[in-house]
Amino acid sequence: MDSTVLIRVNLDIKEKPIAKSLRFNAAAAELRKISKTNNKVVILSHRGRPDGFEKSLSLKPFTPPLSKAIGRKVVFLDNADLKKAAENIKKAAKGSVFLLENVRFLDGETKNSSALGRELAKLGTEFISDDFATSHRADTSLSAITKFLPSKPGNLLKEEIKNLSLAFKKSKSPFVLLIGGAKAKDKVGVIRNLIRKVDLVLVGGAAANTFLKARGMDIKDSLYEPEMLDTAKQLLKNKKLAVPTDFTWEEDKILDIGPQTAKLYSFYLRSAKLIVWNGPMGMFEKKRFACGTNAIVKAIFSNRKASAVIGGGETVSALGLKNQVQHPKPNIFLSTGGGAMLDFLAGEKMAGLEPVLKQLKKK
Ligand code: 3PG
Repeated sequence: MDSTVLIRVNLDIKEKPIAKSLRFNAAAAELRKISKTNNKVVILSHRGRPDGFEKSLSLKPFTPPLSKAIGRKVVFLDNADLKKAAENIKKAAKGSVFLLENVRFLDGETKNSSALGRELAKLGTEFISDDFATSHRADTSLSAITKFLPSKPGNLLKEEIKNLSLAFKKSKSPFVLLIGGAKAKDKVGVIRNLIRKVDLVLVGGAAANTFLKARGMDIKDSLYEPEMLDTAKQLLKNKKLAVPTDFTWEEDKILDIGPQTAKLYSFYLRSAKLIVWNGPMGMFEKKRFACGTNAIVKAIFSNRKASAVIGGGETVSALGLKNQVQHPKPNIFLSTGGGAMLDFLAGEKMAGLEPVLKQLKKK
């Protein structure tokens, strides 16, 4: 087979148009480089958390924006029959770029399956891991695949590791961690892991609801994480933790922090020296529920003395286009990772990162 690079990138993007998002631009920049210096390129990525095939989570609509951004025609490849996909790649002319369908449609992708890793590896001759945002997951197309192909980390992955490590090396006080977002799952665990390292944790979004419920408040139909109620109860005893005191509701759901909370959180952020932020304070996509998140953005961007690390697809999109340009200010680093960024900063085991870094050390 002609040399064919399989590259895992992050196209798990909800923003529209996707071409404006940080994740898309980060992936496209790397793909542009790789497609110039390699015979054939096959792009691997996931989108959402599907259970088998789900049309709304197909990567097919990403083909035209990718072609435009890379400056080469990108050919979409179905993945229901990986043998056929491998034959099509083999037959293709040099210089071809393929986008494989959402790898999470494949049985075994989220189980780090050796069988699937072997099949995926047959699509190319070498592997580049460049999806930092999923590198905390033991997924086949980040981990098991490295057993079957010569593998190395991509430039985005290396940049993320360098910048995030730097933020912590220069760790300054007060260090404020700000956690929000709609994904209630995982957030309370992340707070538990990071609370020792920080001076203050400000919580908003669905993560806050878990704490409010644990404290006995009637949050009605608001999103929360039932299996983390006990942990949340324990964490509430820690004086470093701040939860919202007022809210904006829509019917039976809390959809934003209230003005009092926004004011208090902004005060803390303005006097911080190191800020790590993941997850908007509310449903910022709707103007009515964007006040909390907008206040936070303003506070962080007006604090010129602090270093800030901001990560996660939704969070970066909440910054608005004006602030979203790759490195808006030298003291602010925008990470493509949400959960991955937090796990990395907490010093957690990065299941999708270690295999490729191990391969690098072997050389
Ligand atoms: C993210 O959005 O954080 C990454 O794409 C990982 O997605 P996951 O949380 O569904 O594994």
